Amino acid sequence: MEPEDKVDSKTPGEQPEVTRRNFLSLLGGGSLGGAVLAFLLGLVRSMRPDVLYEPPTRFKAGKPEDYPEGFPTLITEEKVFIDRDEKGLYAMSAICTHLGCRVLWVESENGFHCPCHGATFNREGINGEGPAPSPLPRLEMGLDRDGKIVVDKGSEVDKEFRLTV
Ligand code: FES
Repeated sequence: MEPEDKVDSKTPGEQPEVTRRNFLSLLGGGSLGGAVLAFLLGLVRSMRPDVLYEPPTRFKAGKPEDYPEGFPTLITEEKVFIDRDEKGLYAMSAICTHLGCRVLWVESENGFHCPCHGATFNREGINGEGPAPSPLPRLEMGLDRDGKIVVDKGSEVDKEFRLTV
């Protein structure tokens, strides 16, 4: 037998011997694999923008003359009432301050009613009976360059605020 010939002295089923060299190779390979995986995850994460896409809070609501005195007008898709009194126009959220249901205008009661748990609000949005803890929020409104009403659902104003046109 030649001296370079190796004789496999292991018997079938016997575990291969773990040498220090093998162990360090495995450790190095594992570290490299972990680093590559972390890099790839970071790359994928960096492709997603860190921006929250929320619907805009401002919307246009037509001309002031579209809102006669006498009853509030619901802008259904925005869940906002626009009303007019002797002092001017105002916008009010139609979202109940209890748990967020949309309130309904009740002509016969000259006020609003929440169908979910029975809260009531008067014509000015002040809470009355039921579990609603606070009035319906008044919302900022103004006119754009074309004379159209712009309401900002993200900005509350004092209940005395009126748009005078
Ligand atoms: Fe309006 Fe509960 S959500 S009373």
